[in-house]
Amino acid sequence: MSPQRVVLIGGAGFIGSAIANRLAEAGISVLIPTRRRSRAGQVLLLPNVEVIETDCHDESVLNELFEDADAVVNLVGILHSRSGSPYGPDFARAHVELPTRIVAACKASGVGQLIHVSALGADAAAPSEYQRSKAAGEQAVRAATPEVAWTILRPSVVFGRDDGFLNLFARLAGVLPIIPLGGASARFQPVYVEDVAEVVWHCLNDSAAARDQTFELAGPTVYTLRQLVEYVSALVGHPRPVIPLPEGLAMLQAGLMELAPRPLMSRDNVRSMRADNIATAAPLPFGLRPTAIEAVVPGWLGPAGNQRARYNPMRRHARR
Ligand SMILES: NC(=O)c1ccc[n+]([C@@H]2O[C@H](COP(=O)([O-])OP(=O)(O)OC[C@H]3O[C@@H](n4cnc5c(N)ncnc54)[C@H](OP(=O)(O)O)[C@@H]3O)[C@@H](O)[C@H]2O)c1
Repeated sequence: MSPQRVVLIGGAGFIGSAIANRLAEAGISVLIPTRRRSRAGQVLLLPNVEVIETDCHDESVLNELFEDADAVVNLVGILHSRSGSPYGPDFARAHVELPTRIVAACKASGVGQLIHVSALGADAAAPSEYQRSKAAGEQAVRAATPEVAWTILRPSVVFGRDDGFLNLFARLAGVLPIIPLGGASARFQPVYVEDVAEVVWHCLNDSAAARDQTFELAGPTVYTLRQLVEYVSALVGHPRPVIPLPEGLAMLQAGLMELAPRPLMSRDNVRSMRADNIATAAPLPFGLRPTAIEAVVPGWLGPAGNQRARYNPMRRHARR
């Protein structure tokens, strides 16, 4: 039986917006807490979706949010943190302490189901702090047994119209004559954001099959990072030579980028690419067929998509 009311923590972000859309479409009532309502533009106008500005790190706030909820989906995640061992304090707060509080609040409020979005490569012995903190967050979620049925989702890198991955390389190809690339030979199996949303909907709808399961989420094809960058730069009409950087130089490049207020890349990101980011078994659960990059990305990064994008400022102006 599908739930009536679902709380999406981190639901105003890239993946959360797709999930909110999918659940709203299915008639499920969705509650999204956010730190800044004004930045939740994607989900504010969806039917059946309520967005409230609050601090989800506060356990009493969580208890209140979860009061009438049948299920909770946790999407809070960050890519950069101050450094630390085994992971820095910002990773600890977002990836470990928050899931621990969410589990406690689920138990206190009698929420029966928790879906937690982790990441492929989460491992206590992984090379990056991001991955180690994601592993500790998973451990906190597994401790919800038996009161709360948990599902952990481990996506590879996620692509979609508003992603921060392919769009970043599209922008770089527009401004750089060559693309110096760390982790060029690291392998990824990118998964479509709508497929991730579909999996969440299936987990909610078939909670018995999803109970206490860890699912990897990936696409149909494995690419090196270099192949992805070459594909995107050709697609946006700026085919650029990619210059693979050895790890020492990639760390130097990332170290410099860390000085920016919103870094595109960090040394921890470079470390995370030491291991391939690919699924070990079927790319998606529930017999779902993954969507190929080539089937959808030209719709927004290809010539037709670019044509439509030229009208975006006018659409924004007309609020359409
Ligand atoms: N995108 C990918 O390729 C990818 C791949 C693998 C795993 N994942 C995981 O999937 C989840 C969602 O990713 P996404 O791409 O949708 O990220 P996103 O667009 O950055 O959204 C994450 C949301 O988390 C909330 N958040 C961030 N830092 C927070 C903090 N310190 N305290 C409270 N809330 C905070 C933000 O909510 P507000 O700003 O609204 O408060 C934000 O909307 C993350 O856990 C991420 O690690 C993503």
